Amino acid sequence: MTRLLAIAASALALCACAPQAKPITPEQSAALVPPDGRLAVLYETSCKTCHTIKASGAPLAGDAAAWAPRMKQGVPTLVGHTVQGFKAMPAGGQCAGCTAADYEALIHFMSGAN
Ligand code: HEC
Repeated sequence: MTRLLAIAASALALCACAPQAKPITPEQSAALVPPDGRLAVLYETSCKTCHTIKASGAPLAGDAAAWAPRMKQGVPTLVGHTVQGFKAMPAGGQCAGCTAADYEALIHFMSGAN
């Protein structure tokens, strides 16, 4: 019996260590802000307008599961898609002041990979 309890307890501990990845809500996504001040300003006026709104069709900022298959293409490809435009996303992601390094940092931020 004690042994059974011990097994049950360790199973519970395992569960606590590996919480199930819950999809992020649009509210949680909208609450995320890049830690860098300059990037935060760029983000607020560009990527955020779509990447926190489900109806836009954009992968939500902070939704690691939605970003994972896209990240597999490699960040340089994703930067290229952002600069050139990709399906419903306009060229440059509506960020006139973004450099390639900014796009890279913004992609890392939105993918939850930083
Ligand atoms: C006007 C809306 C809009 C804005 C603004 C926007 N995006 Fe997007 N973005 C989208 C949509 C929609 C998709 C999904 C396209 C698809 O796969 O159908 C997307 C997809 C992406 C992807 C994935 C591309 C791929 O190859 O899978 C990246 C990376 C990305 N956006 C980066 C950015 C960055 C960085 C910004 C800000 C500088 C930004 N986006 C601003 C709408 C937007």
